[in-house]
Amino acid sequence: MLLNIPGVLEGEALRHAQRLLASANWVDGRVTAGHQSAQVKDNLQIPEGSPEARELGGLVLSALETNPLFISGVLPLRVFPPLFNRYDPGMTFGAHVDNAIRQVTGTPHRIRTDVSCTLFLADPGDYDGGELVVEDNFGEHRVKLPAGHMVVYPATSLHRVMPVTRGSRLASFFWVQSMVRDDAQRALLFDLDMAINGVRGDLAAEHRGPVQLTSIYHNLLRRWADA
Ligand code: NI
Repeated sequence: MLLNIPGVLEGEALRHAQRLLASANWVDGRVTAGHQSAQVKDNLQIPEGSPEARELGGLVLSALETNPLFISGVLPLRVFPPLFNRYDPGMTFGAHVDNAIRQVTGTPHRIRTDVSCTLFLADPGDYDGGELVVEDNFGEHRVKLPAGHMVVYPATSLHRVMPVTRGSRLASFFWVQSMVRDDAQRALLFDLDMAINGVRGDLAAEHRGPVQLTSIYHNLLRRWADA
């Protein structure tokens, strides 16, 4: 399931993030790439663990903690500390799949990458190209969102970033280990949750339907989730 999550960062938090990105130190993005993806990756990143990366990461993580769409669509168990990248004109990232397991740098912790996240941080009018292209069984999806909006998609997907031809594409990217590792099961739970929210507003308060559906939601989650 590919899901757009609008308004993850907005207003002053977004502007603060953009100021931090503008003043950050950037290094070659191949530092976090595996052997195969290093051959197709050409971008810049803020070094992991640098003060800017930590502050920016904290902004993103605290915004996600209270985002109902992220929680419902991703069912996060562990979130990798957000990374930040920049594509200047000519930079691109060819087709690749993200590593299944990632060590959280400087810790003994590993996460299984079930969901890949890209939070767009530059205004789409400020750069050309740079679309994220995600492949699935239905074909290719080209994604380029307003600053502060995020797309999440199964980490099992082949994906790439189109070359930037003008300006700079800025984004945060990271992975989530979900309580529900299977994408189809996560998608069903998300659809059910959205449907319950929809009918709840339409029915009288004493109607038992929403409670029964919520019970089904939690009993499916209990079957499928690791917590
Ligand atoms: Ni990737």
